[in-house]
Amino acid sequence: MDIESKKAEPIGVFDSGVGGLTVACEIARQLPKENIVYFGDTARVPYGSKSKDTIIRFSEQIIRFLAKKHVKAIVIACNTASALALETVRDQFDIPILGVVIPGARAAVAATKNLKVGVIGTEATVRSKMYTKNIQKMNPKVEVIEKACPLFVPLVEEGFREHHITDEAIHYYLESMKDTRIDAMILGCTHYPLLRTKIQQYVGENIQIVNPAYETAMELKELLTCQGIANTGKEQSCSKYEFYVSDAAEKFRDFANSVMPFDVPKTNIVNIEEY
Ligand code: DGL
Repeated sequence: MDIESKKAEPIGVFDSGVGGLTVACEIARQLPKENIVYFGDTARVPYGSKSKDTIIRFSEQIIRFLAKKHVKAIVIACNTASALALETVRDQFDIPILGVVIPGARAAVAATKNLKVGVIGTEATVRSKMYTKNIQKMNPKVEVIEKACPLFVPLVEEGFREHHITDEAIHYYLESMKDTRIDAMILGCTHYPLLRTKIQQYVGENIQIVNPAYETAMELKELLTCQGIANTGKEQSCSKYEFYVSDAAEKFRDFANSVMPFDVPKTNIVNIEEY
């Protein structure tokens, strides 16, 4: 394949559901010439309560699907899959694969002044301690306090972002975080930026909220540039975004249209168990 065709190939982005849209959105913003193929595993969400083996198997299937779409790089826009499956799948596939945990850890290390960082995420992400390990590899002096907030994902998936039960869930999970004197807190699940305003209001302005999405988009940009495969846009007038899910395409499309800065016209269903 000639290099111009390679550059025009899309970036594969995946998550268990709608959360990865927060990362896809940032990639579209920072890398406007790149085409994106998004996969949301809506039939099997949530990942956060599942075992490592299952999360690896799901990730492998999705990567095989994205490989069929001829993606030139993959972003695992899911902290749970980044924490539990990234190392395994990186060794298996001949496509560059990035996760969100290392970029998120780097952003938090840069943000904290008192060297106390909070991390909120799914049960699986918190259990893996991948944020703590990566942050302390970057700066061993940083103290990390992790907290699982398992109800946040279903609340977001069900469209309850503005509902009072979401306020109650935020209070239930984050009250203890307020007493820890952290000055930075990572949204360690890609669904959580969709609750960002409410979370920020609850924890107050003294805690800087860290969303790994920006840092991830920057890491992707660097990878594409280093490998000489960034899209220069010579072969197209505007970027193409394609959306695939494993179930409930209409519901996903409506949600995507409420959060993406462009129209999401069609979402296709994929039988991911076939991959
Ligand atoms: N949005 C994902 C994450 O970043 C997965 C949430 C879930 O499916 O439990 O962890």
